[in-house]
Order: sequence, then C-alpha cells, then structure tokens
Amino acid sequence: MSEYVENAESIVGHVAKRLTPEEINKMRAQDSRLVTEFHANQLERDAKKHWDLFYKRNDTRFFKDRHWTTREFDELLGLGGNGNQNVLFEVGCGVGNFVYPLIEDGLNFRRIFVCDLSTRAIELLKSHTLFDPETMKAFQADITLENCFAEIDYSVDVATLIFVLSAIHPDKFHKVVQNIYNILGSGGILLFRDYGLYDMAQLRFKPGHKISENLYMRQDGTRSYYFSIEQVACLFESVGFQTLDCDYIQRRTVNLKENIDVPRIFVTFSYYSSIADLPKAIKSTMKYFFAILLLAFVAISMAVETSEAGKAKESQDANAARDKRGFSSYYSPYAYAAPYAYNSYNLPYAYSPYSAYPYYNHHHYNYPYYNQFPHYY
Ligand SMILES: C[S@@+](CC[C@H](N)C(=O)[O-])C[C@H]1O[C@@H](n2cnc3c(N)ncnc32)[C@H](O)[C@@H]1O
Repeated sequence: MSEYVENAESIVGHVAKRLTPEEINKMRAQDSRLVTEFHANQLERDAKKHWDLFYKRNDTRFFKDRHWTTREFDELLGLGGNGNQNVLFEVGCGVGNFVYPLIEDGLNFRRIFVCDLSTRAIELLKSHTLFDPETMKAFQADITLENCFAEIDYSVDVATLIFVLSAIHPDKFHKVVQNIYNILGSGGILLFRDYGLYDMAQLRFKPGHKISENLYMRQDGTRSYYFSIEQVACLFESVGFQTLDCDYIQRRTVNLKENIDVPRIFVTFSYYSSIADLPKAIKSTMKYFFAILLLAFVAISMAVETSEAGKAKESQDANAARDKRGFSSYYSPYAYAAPYAYNSYNLPYAYSPYSAYPYYNHHHYNYPYYNQFPHYY
C-alpha cells in the first residue's frame, strides 16, 4: 500500500509539492480501481498504434513549440554554437516541437538525428519546411529495443529526452537509458525533462486510470509516468551517467482562451557520460589495446627470429672461417689461442698438444700419419 493511503493525515509530498488532505484523498481514490493486467498488457503491445493514432488525430497541433529549451538548457547554447561541430540526437522527437525551435533560435549542429516510435510523427516532422535532409536524419525506432540506434553513424555529443520516458513502461526505463548512454560519445551530454511526481496532471486522474505506482493510462491509450528526482538520478547513474544538474521545476500552464492557469511540476536533469568514466573508457579502448598487444607480439617474435638467424649465421661464418684456415671448428675451445701453431705441419688442430682430445685423435682411423710417425706423440 502506498504511503498516502496508510498515512492520510501525515505529510505527503516532496520539496516542490506538499499534498493537501484533499489531494491525498484523490490519490487514494485512484487506487480504488486499477487498470486490469490484461488491459495493461494490451496498452504495452499497442503502444505504437496509440501514438500513431494520436498524431493522426492531432497532426502537428498538439504540443507547443518548446522555445524554452535554449534558455533552460544552457549546455545546448554552448554545444550548438561550437563552430557547428556537434552532433545532436533527439530521442522521441514527436513532430519536432523541440528540434525546430532550436534551429529557429539559430543553433547549428554538424548533424541532427531524430527518432520516434510513431511512423506518422516522423512523416509529419519530415514535412516541416525546416527539414533539411543534408543535415538531418529522421527515423522510426522503438527506443526500448536492442540495437535501436543502428542508423546513427556518428558519435553523439548531445542527446535529448523530452517528455518521452514517461510514455514508456517503467520495466523498460533501464534499457532506454542504457541505449542512450551507449550512443553518446565520451563526455556527451543528455538533457532530460519529464513529468514530476505529484504534478497537477497526476492528481487529476480518476479511478480506472492507474496502471501501477505513478503510471497512468490516458483516455487515448497513451501512458504517462511521474518521476521523483531521486528515482531519475538513480536510474541514470545506474548505467554510468554523472549528474550535472537535477531538480524539480515549477511552471504554470496558462491557456487564456480556456481560462486555465495551473501550476505544474516537471523534473529537469542534465547528465554527462564522463571521460573519467573508467569502465566505458576501458571498453572503448579495449580493441586498440588488443590490437597493440598483437602487434607487439608479432614484432617481438620477428625480432627473436632475426636474432636467432643472425646468431646462426655468425656461427656458420666463424666455422667457415676456421674451416678455411684448416681447423675443424668443433675440435678445440683453444682453436683461437694458437691457430697457427701447428699449421706448418698441416695437421688438424685437434692433433696438437692444445687439443682436449689428443689420445682419442691419436687412434682415430683417419689419422693420416698413424703408421709413419707414431713417435710424434
Ligand atoms: C509526449 S510526446 C513528446 C514528443 C517530443 N519529445 C516533444 O517534446 O514534443 C512523447 C513521444 O514519445 C514517443 N515514444 C513513445 N514511446 C516510444 C518508444 N518506445 N520509442 C520511441 N519513441 C517513443 C511518442 O511517439 C511521442 O512522440
């Protein structure tokens, strides 16, 4: 049972929002009737269909252009102004309400990648007048799947995840975050914004819409999750991201036509995959390490072989030189001590008094003077 059900009278909330007793009761009522497991599984299976229908119904009209992004994510200004060298990747781009305002605000990127689950959203994004196939690549992808970013052939400097993770089942959060981490280059930055815990929209859900803790089903079949900052920090850091900034932000949703002016709570984070992140650095340099190891092994083997061959050649040359002088190379270690001492007799050195084997040689069947000059020895 959740905290607010057990302790309806005690304080429930966080630094940005303290629930009133009335709000606690509303959340208690949400628990009175949950979405059935069968229906919840169906929503998961049909996620793409629901988002396609959403964009079919709303075209490009639903989300407002997000002109706050350059103001609020300082990092973007630095990145987009950096001599046009950086690569931007918008994950879950919808119809481009985030990316086109950046271009309109004059930010430059070497390459922009955008992806979304909804094929229809991608089509709408591509039909925008600012879509430039030279610098932009838009593709359909389910970011919860393995190898979903195979189309990206650049190292990404900044990735954005704006109101997307909340549309995904919590069981798949880790995979999504891992996928994004893997596509970022060393020191790459992720900018994240999504719905904060106890946001006004969460409190407004009626019974029959809650799927599980902080996860709800909207009327149109899309889903929405509400995050605490602790949960998001923990999630992103679990795959290796390092937190730059992490907070609840409070804004107001104003619609003068409908006389709406309500407080909102969002969660904003920016994370980077640090160069000092040792496991990743090791992983990325591992292939070079093995290549260098292999080259070193080949070089050492070749050097050893050359030196062995050199030694053999030296020894062959020395033997040949000694043979040339008339001394058998293997007869005596003293061969160099007195090479000419017995040369005048034209005898092999082994028969000299310096030889280590005089008696043996004396009786050698090849001894040329065996019969003639036995008195020699
Ligand atoms: C609330 S919209 C936000 C769109 C955009 N980021 C913006 O700020 O306007 C959520 C988007 O997430 C996309 N989405 C939902 N599940 C997804 C998934 N598994 N993979 C990729 N995109 C997904 C939806 O198609 C939808 O366009």
